[in-house]
Amino acid sequence: MPPTPIKLAPSILASDFTRLADELRAIRSADYIHVDVMDGQFVPNISFGFPLLEAVRRVRDADQTGQFIDVHLMVQAPERYLEQFAAAGADGLTIHVEATPHIHRAVQMIRDLGKQPGVVLNPGTPLEALRPVLPDVGLVLIMSVNPGFGGQRFIPQTYERVRTVRRWLDELGSNAELQVDGGVNAETARLLAEAGASCLVAGSSVYGPDGAEAGLARLRGALA
Ligand code: DX5
Ligand code: ZN
Repeated sequence: MPPTPIKLAPSILASDFTRLADELRAIRSADYIHVDVMDGQFVPNISFGFPLLEAVRRVRDADQTGQFIDVHLMVQAPERYLEQFAAAGADGLTIHVEATPHIHRAVQMIRDLGKQPGVVLNPGTPLEALRPVLPDVGLVLIMSVNPGFGGQRFIPQTYERVRTVRRWLDELGSNAELQVDGGVNAETARLLAEAGASCLVAGSSVYGPDGAEAGLARLRGALA
């Protein structure tokens, strides 16, 4: 069987919000739309919230692209907002294990809302922290930068972390997505695919000066 192609998840954080609909159309060939929500508490930055997510959903539905709206919540105590993010248009909700003492309950809440639960780890968090919930999630996200800002440099220890989580998922027989976020470009993308990632988030390397279509094509070229 040929290997499954790596899914791409452009982060609209790096897009031009004055032209959001066009910026979304430029990535209509991507599998996921990655939506980065920052609360100014869990991370030292504030991005956007419900109204922008609703707008993304409206464009996606109008264009009938069938893309998966992948919401990365960099939010303290995300339980407080899961219902609202589900209602605003998320298909999947990914929450940080560092952001709640009740990660297992929060994952269950996402499932009960009919959305795909994801868990994410900061670069400094031991991988063991996600093991108890691994059988319950549809997506595991390994951060390859400290969350809060786009355009940061990739942390190379990520490769080994991805290899370990790939092994754990395979041992479980899980087909959960193994996603990596931060500093993904043509070079790191290729090495991440080799390490076992199945889905790559990319902000600044997609929404670059020559536009998102060219950015996506560059990443695909590196992965081919
Ligand atoms: C970082 C966000 C990322 C970010 C990636 O806090 O979670 O999704 O937008 O941006 P790049 O690809 O520029 O590192
Ligand atoms: Zn993200």
